Amino acid sequence: MSMKKRILAFGASSSKNSINKQLAAYTSSLMKDVQINLIDLNDYEMPLFSVDIEKESGIPEKAFLFKEQIKSSDGIILSLAEHNGAYSSAYKNIFDWTSRIEKEFWYNRPMLLLATSPGPNGAKRVLKIANEAYSYSNKNIAGSFSLPSFYENFSNEKGIVNDTFKNDLLLQLAQFEKLLFTK
Ligand SMILES: Cc1cc2nc3c(=O)[nH]c(=O)nc-3n(C[C@H](O)[C@H](O)[C@H](O)COP(=O)(O)O)c2cc1C
Repeated sequence: MSMKKRILAFGASSSKNSINKQLAAYTSSLMKDVQINLIDLNDYEMPLFSVDIEKESGIPEKAFLFKEQIKSSDGIILSLAEHNGAYSSAYKNIFDWTSRIEKEFWYNRPMLLLATSPGPNGAKRVLKIANEAYSYSNKNIAGSFSLPSFYENFSNEKGIVNDTFKNDLLLQLAQFEKLLFTK
């Protein structure tokens, strides 16, 4: 009997009603035969990163816990919130702290990068930033997908209701699954 592949899924936002968390949850729910671990960034809240705090008190325990979530996964589905064209502060803070533990960050886990926003640009700017940045450290980025105008294209019951976007996501997801199951 083989163990099911474990998917770490999260929205890179601390909003309780994060649309990115919804997109990450929905996308992972389209996969078959996997175990989904949907985490909430509020469980990893830490002081605002500072080299001085690090010197005085070390890296917070929650950074190690977050790191462990990455390490113990077989693949990652991450949906990015865009704040002023960049990462949300909540996500950036976790990322900064966790990056202080060791050089290796994503452990080359197959990764699907998503992003959505209520506007027509679908958080494409932050998606581009992440895609470029993580491509250096992770050779297994399966693809990226941006869903524009979230509230028009997504329904709680049906998920993505626009066929073009849905098909695009399924294509990216198939690439992700290919990487995941051939590893
Ligand atoms: C401080 C702030 C800055 C924002 N900047 C952008 C932006 O640059 N581009 C964008 O598409 N949406 C922007 N938005 C709207 C977010 O896309 C929207 O709040 C979205 O719900 C965030 O994703 P989340 O629900 O997963 O947190 C911004 C929202 C806030 C609160």
